[in-house]
Amino acid sequence: MSYDSLESLAAACASCQACPLGKTRTNLVFGVGSPTADLMFVGEAPGQQEDEQGIPFVGAAGQLLDRYLYAVGIPRESVYIANILKCRPPRNRDPLPEEEDACIGHLREQIKLIRPKMIVCLGRISAMRLIKPDYRITREHGTFVKKGAFLMTAVYHPSALLRDPSKKEAMLIDMENIKTQLDILTSEKGS
Ligand code: URA
Repeated sequence: MSYDSLESLAAACASCQACPLGKTRTNLVFGVGSPTADLMFVGEAPGQQEDEQGIPFVGAAGQLLDRYLYAVGIPRESVYIANILKCRPPRNRDPLPEEEDACIGHLREQIKLIRPKMIVCLGRISAMRLIKPDYRITREHGTFVKKGAFLMTAVYHPSALLRDPSKKEAMLIDMENIKTQLDILTSEKGS
């Protein structure tokens, strides 16, 4: 099934029961931001606050992400933010492969409609799903790969930075490089 707008896709997702998380969610967390964003962030799965509000990255991790966006001069409203899973796994456990399989089609449709120039995976789970299954976040964060129409990279998940503040310096460097690459992409002819 293909959709002509994010609104029609969101409406279809709202009643999704493709995996058991459909029964336990408070709200489906579809995504937030500019429908024409050049830069898209993809996290792992909603947490408690996201489940309660139906908006991705509104909890502590999201507030930290906001600070990095501000620090490197990327307006939050210019980007789009979504997750691999649209429903919260119980007690924030890692997504199960079958949950990812059930949900990933929604994300692919979202990406098709937004057509970002760059996709940034937030954390290992997202990078393993979108970049390559054996992605090593500690070793490979901040490196760029071209995949089809998209420039892709991964950074530490903001929750990992909350657990281990020694990673924050690397995150700032990665975010600065993302801004530089984004400026190059958006100044290219025909963009
Ligand atoms: N962590 C994620 O990966 N996504 C959210 O939306 C919130 C926390």
